[in-house]
Amino acid sequence: MDFKLSEEHLMIQQAARDFAQNECLPGVIERDEKMKFPYEQIVKLADLGFLGMMVDPNYGGSGLDTISYVLAMEEISKVDASVSVCMSVNNSLVCWGIEKYGTEEQKQKYLIPLAQGKKDEALFTGAFLLSEPEAGSDATSQRTTAEDKGDYYLLNGTKNWITNGGTASVYLVMAQTDYSKGAKGITTFIVEKNWPGVVVGGKENKLGIRASDTHTIMFNDVRVPKENRIGEEGFGFKFAMKTLAGGRIGIASQALGIASGAYERALNYSKTRKAFGTEIMNHQTIAFKLADMATRIEAARSLCLKAAWDKDQDRDYTFSSSMAKVYASETAMWTTIEAVQIHGGYGYVKEYHVERLMRDAKITQIYEGTSEVQRIVISREILK
Ligand code: CAA
Ligand code: FAD
Repeated sequence: MDFKLSEEHLMIQQAARDFAQNECLPGVIERDEKMKFPYEQIVKLADLGFLGMMVDPNYGGSGLDTISYVLAMEEISKVDASVSVCMSVNNSLVCWGIEKYGTEEQKQKYLIPLAQGKKDEALFTGAFLLSEPEAGSDATSQRTTAEDKGDYYLLNGTKNWITNGGTASVYLVMAQTDYSKGAKGITTFIVEKNWPGVVVGGKENKLGIRASDTHTIMFNDVRVPKENRIGEEGFGFKFAMKTLAGGRIGIASQALGIASGAYERALNYSKTRKAFGTEIMNHQTIAFKLADMATRIEAARSLCLKAAWDKDQDRDYTFSSSMAKVYASETAMWTTIEAVQIHGGYGYVKEYHVERLMRDAKITQIYEGTSEVQRIVISREILK
């Protein structure tokens, strides 16, 4: 067993760290306050090759492994989780799904610009549309329908909470093609945002990841050509579950980054802030909080890297990605609350960043499957 990162991994980690410090840190508080989408940062991510990190270079990607992706996600999430969620969705939910299950034509037309993050010099990203007002955790209860009309499908329905909903050019949409078959009646389609009948609702005003772009998307008689179906009819739920297994590695790494960003700030603060005649790190209660943070973060990082390694080795990673996500997200929530506590009153104001990290941490326990859903996946596996 080798816990050492390769030269290439260290280079990627450093590139992501530099990007986070130089490009994401400036303006992060204002973007959060004003819910301003990090447009320039995402364009620069595309230039770095970080929007299609694991995609084959023949399809415009960087051809890196999942370990590199975890390292980059951690570094960027230490500073700005609104940037990293856009990156995670594009990489693991959109590019991966099309590369793994799409046709050659779909890859040429959509995967190449998605992996490059650009088309005709304009930003080109994707979104993943599974959740609906009545189908969140209970994802098989899809109400959106795609009716077979011969050479096209007619798409109708509403998706909510869609990350990149307003900025993405392409949507991967799960819809019912046959209600009577339940989960086996769900099918996935590639839908372009500018097609007639696609309506983008207002941007959600959220607790955390406020700069990220979350919208309700409505489909009113949208004509989807047959060639935009991914896989066979009825493959959509399996497609979503397989894709989400990889997505959960991305969100676990995001949670890891939020936790380690808060820990680094708390550690530095405890070395400079004095109370009762000494730096607060010298009070054992504070030192033990830092020790617990460091321990939980190291455990979360190990789970993230293990899930990434499973994926890179073509082993089953459904189970390890759920373990990584539930543990890392709970570590992020706990660590950020304690980081605010270590900062005292200063932690409660925006300038010290930890209050934002605390707000950002919460979403990692909810999206891409709540902590309760991850425990369903894990318990089914260990009890079967
Ligand atoms: N791989 C392949 N197939 C799978 C699978 C997997 N990981 N998980 C389930 N399936 C198959 C099952 O085998 C079953 O097929 P068969 O009938 O042929 O056996 C079918 O799918 C239905 O599965 P279940 O009976 O297990 O379904 P369920 O209703 O009990 O739900 C669940 C299981 C794990 C709770 C699932 O619904 C789930 O993951 N819910 C959470 C949804 C979610 O994560 N949404 C995230 C939206 S995207 C997002 O959030 C992005 C973002 O924020 C940035
Ligand atoms: P519900 O499913 O209604 O759950 C409510 C509560 O009940 C939760 O605590 C849940 O864990 C619990 N619960 C439900 N069922 C069970 C059960 N069987 N056992 C135990 N507890 C249970 N979705 C997308 O498709 N694409 C996106 O890009 C996307 N981005 C998002 C971005 C943000 C900011 C947010 C907030 C959400 C996003 N989502 C996205 C949706 C997200 O995946 C769902 O919110 C999530 O899956 C939970 O669904 P729900 O909100 O309907 O909650």
